[in-house]
Amino acid sequence: MDILQNFAILEGPDGSGTSTQMELLKQRFAAAAPGRPVLHTTAEPTGGELGQCIRRALKGELPLRPETLARLFAADRGEHLYGKGGIVERANRGELVVCDRYVPSSLVYQGLECGEELPRSLNSPFPAPRLIIFFDLDPRIAAERIKDRGEREIYEYLEFQIKVRDRYLSLLPVFRAQGSAIVCLDASRRPEEVAAELWAALKTLPALGGQLMRSTGTTGRGS
Ligand code: TYD
Repeated sequence: MDILQNFAILEGPDGSGTSTQMELLKQRFAAAAPGRPVLHTTAEPTGGELGQCIRRALKGELPLRPETLARLFAADRGEHLYGKGGIVERANRGELVVCDRYVPSSLVYQGLECGEELPRSLNSPFPAPRLIIFFDLDPRIAAERIKDRGEREIYEYLEFQIKVRDRYLSLLPVFRAQGSAIVCLDASRRPEEVAAELWAALKTLPALGGQLMRSTGTTGRGS
């Protein structure tokens, strides 16, 4: 499988804190590595037309078959990767691209909803990230964290999130075998502690002068 160097992703169940960490990362990066390399943070679903359509489906405003949603996620990802100013273009010109969710989310969430085969085949042409940072959190704690957010999305209920975490844990070794380095963080801790470990993980990337081994288990509950 093709590995896209300079590309790292954050993954985890809903409420595991990846969005918060993205914000902290931007601040830390600006202070600690001014200038080069350029950090590009991004997320899926994207803010583009396809991503907005997905957001409506996630809110339950647009009822779609799980298979259609799987195809939409993959289509949104294809644009995100290969469109103008996309992930591939940026990573190839030396930017450090960090994305909140990517292919593993589809393999986990859509895998649970419509079987493994469809998301696997839809996503098989896409490159794997150099580094996957998994935010591990008991779904009960995550549910507590997101219960005050107001609107609940279609996947945000406890039974499903328990399956999501289990599916992630069973797939991490597969991603590692495909050549991505995996770092597993204990996301139950304070945001500043998680941020410090996220930073340490990113510093293993060649773009930040690190020497990434094929599978790092150096931080948190390394796997
Ligand atoms: P996210 O933006 O991380 O959640 P939030 O709205 O809380 O910030 O992700 C939105 C949801 O989309 C989340 O439940 C996971 C789901 N998702 C998939 O099911 N498949 C995918 O391929 C992606 C990228 C996200």
